[in-house]
Amino acid sequence: MKVTAIGTGYVGLVTGACLAEMGNHVLCLDVNAEKIRILNEGEIPIHEPGLQEIVQRNVAAGRLQFTTDIDRAVNHGTIMFIGVGTPPDEDGSADLQYVLAAARSIGARMTDYKVIVDKSTVPVGTADKVRAAVADELTKRGSTLAFAVVSNPEFLKEGAAVEDFMKPDRIIIGSDDEQATLFMRALYSPFTRNNDRMVVMDLRSAEFTKYAANAMLATRISFMNELALLAEKVGADIELVRRGIGSDPRIGYSFLYAGAGYGGSCFPKDVKALVQAAQAEGVSLRVLAAVEQANERQKMVLVDKVVARFGADLSGRHFAIWGLAFKPNTDDMREAPALVIVQELIRLGATVAAYDPVAMPEAKRVLGDLRSFSFCERAEQALEGADALVLVTEWKEFKSPDFDAIKAALKQPVVFDGRNQYEPSLMKVLGLEHHGIGRGSAQSVK
Ligand code: NAD
Ligand code: UDX
Repeated sequence: MKVTAIGTGYVGLVTGACLAEMGNHVLCLDVNAEKIRILNEGEIPIHEPGLQEIVQRNVAAGRLQFTTDIDRAVNHGTIMFIGVGTPPDEDGSADLQYVLAAARSIGARMTDYKVIVDKSTVPVGTADKVRAAVADELTKRGSTLAFAVVSNPEFLKEGAAVEDFMKPDRIIIGSDDEQATLFMRALYSPFTRNNDRMVVMDLRSAEFTKYAANAMLATRISFMNELALLAEKVGADIELVRRGIGSDPRIGYSFLYAGAGYGGSCFPKDVKALVQAAQAEGVSLRVLAAVEQANERQKMVLVDKVVARFGADLSGRHFAIWGLAFKPNTDDMREAPALVIVQELIRLGATVAAYDPVAMPEAKRVLGDLRSFSFCERAEQALEGADALVLVTEWKEFKSPDFDAIKAALKQPVVFDGRNQYEPSLMKVLGLEHHGIGRGSAQSVK
């Protein structure tokens, strides 16, 4: 099939590349000329495991192309994905200006039937707004061309985006148009055996489903982070509690890891947007509002632990940070807890040396010229002369480090383990002072 992806970011690029991999002819459009230049030179502008290979293979096969030419992009696809950003507005609600601009640009140029697919995460009712925007542009041209609007929210996780897209848990199709539904079924049939992963529903329920999924996952994380605070006080180990409750299939193991708070381009903004959307309807989502508040507090937990250990005046103190990205296997720094932690340590007078396997260029771009802050080429280098190590992102290479080298390089053998990567009992044996998240009993029971 002929597909256009409007917006070639994480979602648009992965969608475009994976659909091309299944034999579709895909043209990806972006207004960011630099992004398109990089892609046309055979590189990808983000760090996403497995993506570069798929992009290169499909470009070579002539099934995947990139452009900034909107006329060409609208002319190309019968199926037009809109995967542009929906950042938070001042009040937290989703800013739809990019989605609606994309819709208008389709309406202003289309010359044949289009299935317009909302792939971006958008509030309930957005499909109607997209439909109205396209219709308005057609009316201006005196055109009566037919088109359909479909909601197809994306559930990929960064760092595992290709795998998630290729083997989806489910494909949500929100549609009130039979023909458009058939197009979507055909497009996604290679991704779902016997269509058993395809869930077709009305537009509004599909839009809602995306927010509900992210809100549920964020809730699990904040819930565990709050229990971790209590576990520390009462002498329980949240890791053991996680295993204990996760074994109940009604609860399950995933997304129960206490840590330094959730970040990324989705949970923070989507939780805010859902709370805001509910408020506009006169509904107060109290649980979800608390999820967000708990996460804001959680991003400060590592700093609070540093202050409890070294005092509120950190002048003359130096800290090593391991991990800057909001999660491993990505260079995405959006809403990364590390941003809050680094800035807060510096505000309290400390100097900071940081290392991240892939996110340092992006962190440099986001943090700019920050005084008292430096980047290190290697993890060990960041430790030199530091008062303590603060682990913020659980990259695999931090999981089993040379503990003796850590001890030797630090001024004091103190480790703040923001992702519970190390067993407190082992750290004790090694002579390292370990501050985990919710590891109240400070020992591991086998
Ligand atoms: P992104 O910022 O990485 O990419 C968006 C791209 O759209 C940018 O490259 C931007 O230049 C481009 N763009 C903006 N307006 C445009 C226009 N009119 N025409 C063409 N290109 C335009 O964003 P993202 O992370 O890919 O997220 C996109 C949407 O998908 C958001 O709604 C997000 O919530 C949702 N989503 C993201 C993820 C994720 O993990 N990143 C997962 C699921 C859903
Ligand atoms: C999320 C959703 O998982 C995905 O389905 C949606 O499409 C986009 O948003 P993403 O933000 O890429 O994906 O990463 P995710 O793995 O969900 O992690 C988000 C944040 O939660 C990270 O900061 C991570 O460190 C944190 N997290 C995750 C925890 O703190 N504990 C956990 O148990 C899981």
